Amino acid sequence: MSTKTNTTTRSLTSLKEEHKKFSCITAYDATFAKLASSAGIDVLLVGDSLGMVLQGQSSTLPVTMDEMIYHTQCVSRGSEGSLIMADMPFNSINSIESALDNASYLMQAGAHIVKLEGGEWLDEYITALSDRGIPVCAHLGLTPQSVNKLGGYRVQGKEADKANHMINTAKELVEAGADIILLECVPTTLAAAITQKVKVPVIGIGAGNVTDGQVLVMHDMLGITTGHKPKFVKNFMAEADSIKDAFIHYDQAVKSGEFPSADYSFSG
Ligand code: KIV
Repeated sequence: MSTKTNTTTRSLTSLKEEHKKFSCITAYDATFAKLASSAGIDVLLVGDSLGMVLQGQSSTLPVTMDEMIYHTQCVSRGSEGSLIMADMPFNSINSIESALDNASYLMQAGAHIVKLEGGEWLDEYITALSDRGIPVCAHLGLTPQSVNKLGGYRVQGKEADKANHMINTAKELVEAGADIILLECVPTTLAAAITQKVKVPVIGIGAGNVTDGQVLVMHDMLGITTGHKPKFVKNFMAEADSIKDAFIHYDQAVKSGEFPSADYSFSG
C-alpha cells in the first residue's frame, strides 16, 4: 500500500504556488501505471498517443472513444494515487452534448480530468464541462490531432503574433474554466510567459524547464520508440537499472528542474 497522498488538480495548483515542479508521463495499462505511480510520478496521462506507440498508427486521429475508455480503466486499476488525465480523442468534441457524453464516459472509466486539444474554440466546451464538475486540461501549441492542418509536427508560436495569440488563448481558456494548460513544442520564452500569466498549473513537453510540470510519452523516455526521436525526448532508461528506476530518475530530474535542459528545449 502506497503512503503517497492522492494528487488532485488542487494539490498541483498548490505546488505551482510554492514554485515546486511536478512530473507526468503517459500510461496506457495497469502494470506501467502502478510502476510509475509508485515511483512518485504525479500525473498519468492516458494519451491518444497510444494510437502511435501501441497501435502502430501514423497519427492519433484513428483512436476511438472506446479505446480511450478501455485504457483509462486499465490505468485507473494500476494507479496508486496519481492524478489520471485522459485524452478526448479526435471526433469526440463535435457538440456540447457529445463533449459532455464523452468526457463523462472517461470520468466513469477512472479519469480525474480530461484533456482537450485545440484553441479558443474550446471556450464553450470547457465551460460546459467545468459547470458539470468535470476538470479540464487545455492542450495548446503543437496539437497532434490537427497535424494535417498544421502541416507536420513542428514547433508552434515562434512568431511574435502567434506567441501573443497563444498567451491570450491560454488566459481565455483559464477564464472559461480550464484547470490545467498543457503546452507542446513551443519556445521556452513563450512557455515561461504563459506559465507566469495563468494561475493554473502548466505542463510542458518540448516547452523548456520553465513550466510547472513536465510530461513525456512513456515509450520515448524508456528509449523503446523506433523512428524519429524528437529533440525534447531524453532516454531515462540509458542509465537506469530497471523501468521503475528510470521513472524515479525522470521524476527527480523534473522536480529538480534539471530536465529538460536547453539541449531538450526550443529557443526563440
Ligand atoms: O497523447 C499524448 O500522449 C499527449 C502528450 C504528447 C502530451 O497528448
